Amino acid sequence: PAPPTQASVKLGFDSIAGSMTDAVAVPQGYSAQVLAPWGTPLNDKAREWKSDGTNTAEDQANAMGMHHDGMHFFPLNDSSEDGLLVVNHEYLDLDALHANGPTLDADGKRTVVDEVRKEINGHGVSVVRIRKNGSQWEVVKNDRHNRRFTGATIMDIAGPLAYTSYLETRFSPDGSQARGTLNNCGNGYTPWGTYLTCEENWPGYFVNRGDHTEDQDRLGLSHSNSRYRWDTLEGHTEELVDEFTRFNVTPSGNSAQQDYRNEANGHGYIVEIDPYNPATRAVKRTALGRFRHEGCTFGKLEAGKPVTFYSGHDSRFEYMYKFVSDANWDPADANPANRIATGDKYMNEGTLYVAKFNADGTGNWIPLTLDSVTTDGRRLGEKFVSQAAIILNTPGAADAVGATEMDRPEWCAVDPFTGSAYLTLTNNTRRDEANAANPRIDNSFGHIIRWDEGEDATDFSWDIFVFGSPEDGDADTNRSGLAELNQFASPDGLAFDKRGIMWVQTDNGADEVEEYTNDQMLAVVPSTLVDGDGNQQVISADNQTQLRRFFVGPNGCEVTGFAITPDYKNMFANIQHPGNWPYSANAAEVTPAGTSVRPRAATVVITKNDGGEIGV
Ligand code: FEO
Ligand code: CA
Ligand code: CA
Ligand code: CA
Repeated sequence: PAPPTQASVKLGFDSIAGSMTDAVAVPQGYSAQVLAPWGTPLNDKAREWKSDGTNTAEDQANAMGMHHDGMHFFPLNDSSEDGLLVVNHEYLDLDALHANGPTLDADGKRTVVDEVRKEINGHGVSVVRIRKNGSQWEVVKNDRHNRRFTGATIMDIAGPLAYTSYLETRFSPDGSQARGTLNNCGNGYTPWGTYLTCEENWPGYFVNRGDHTEDQDRLGLSHSNSRYRWDTLEGHTEELVDEFTRFNVTPSGNSAQQDYRNEANGHGYIVEIDPYNPATRAVKRTALGRFRHEGCTFGKLEAGKPVTFYSGHDSRFEYMYKFVSDANWDPADANPANRIATGDKYMNEGTLYVAKFNADGTGNWIPLTLDSVTTDGRRLGEKFVSQAAIILNTPGAADAVGATEMDRPEWCAVDPFTGSAYLTLTNNTRRDEANAANPRIDNSFGHIIRWDEGEDATDFSWDIFVFGSPEDGDADTNRSGLAELNQFASPDGLAFDKRGIMWVQTDNGADEVEEYTNDQMLAVVPSTLVDGDGNQQVISADNQTQLRRFFVGPNGCEVTGFAITPDYKNMFANIQHPGNWPYSANAAEVTPAGTSVRPRAATVVITKNDGGEIGV
């Protein structure tokens, strides 16, 4: 029989009210536990987390990083109670990280080596074994899988930029490696059991006080200061110079091997990690483009067909991309002996495309190759000397072929039943000219667009699934008929579970919604919203009760990152940058009035009190 095109699950909870407390809120009959907050030791090299901010750089290198974001659960032996949680750490709250905030001298320069090192170590990715013990999950300290990837970890480069002059540095003269991963926001995973971490707002970590290259200009490297001013820590030894001055990419020597001009060229990629094999290095997959990657999601898999990955560039007026592998999917690769070699097979050779959304509901994926025709009738090859040059300045190449400027592409998720792809466009308050796919000017509430691939790799059709809005928005604003119990703004995190439930998370909902509720997570089963002819519907006043609020975060946070165990009985969501939380291991316990806690990003594990499946 043909596989079903519609999910069979129904949401089994009532939409919950908005919440504005220092606690998470879940539906009746559910519980929420705090797991692996920032600073949790992964091994004995880290001391216990201290509430006064005095943990060291060495502690931080061996403990959960800060500001949890995208994540995935990798079961061990197919268990739903024992596995590896892999978590991104996007950026830092310096006042929470340090005992007394960052130290700067009178010139605004960094002066304390251990502080800066702690900041670099607070970034990146954690792999941590977690296990259920009775009703509570716990971190398995010292497990052999536990490891940290930080802003300094050595990583391999693969794809078109590997071994090119663009990647030659003092550290890697042959251009084969780079150091660190930064601003890891959204994530993905692969059909062969690896984790993908996405480098988002990395340009801010570097500074070029001289002339910018074209890609540095296009991607927005700073001319004046780097985000945390790591580059300003003046060296005491050659090693320290190399450790920190590398974030200043202003050319100073005669060649790339003498200075740090190419250091930022090692950033802006999708990075593959094999959580099951701690002996492997992370690999930066340059074929998937270089920009501010938010997420990375594979399309519906078919044996004998290429593997597709979607990734959005989260910045105002930026683009949506897809990568299509040259290799065709072999189901035997679902459980390979060597996962990184499998990544080499599917993620190094292929075609990168950028999306053009037409007003008639059709769309075109435009390849970014030397032969691609530009809007002025030339070829990309006249503007770029190689595929590596195209990748280095991916958005510059996309400009030339006429891609559609979007309202900040964040996460993408693919419906396991229909194969439809959904993309959050979080907001864009600077848009003063609409296009069909981004139809609201001054779009403070964001929307979720959807597309279906056509017969040809270059064609698709699209519609807008839902518009964020306050319930009392006017007709042009509240186009989806949202009501009190599902009003939302700034959709960001997005995921499908394999039952066909789509989970929508929000980040910094606009004031009109935030005066009613903190950031939240909603659920809907899109494949079941069909008309009499079986055509998929969008959210409207007629069916809006099918979009339900499931979870609300504590004051000050965003809700981001999604994972669920194979039995659907344990769901993981991250609380990033909370204000005054967590107070205890019970994520739903309100921090008492008058009590201030050092805020800690954390994973929240949601379970049903009767032990049943989440959401149904
Ligand atoms: Fe880090 Fe695009 O959110
Ligand atoms: Ca974030
Ligand atoms: Ca995000
Ligand atoms: Ca965001």
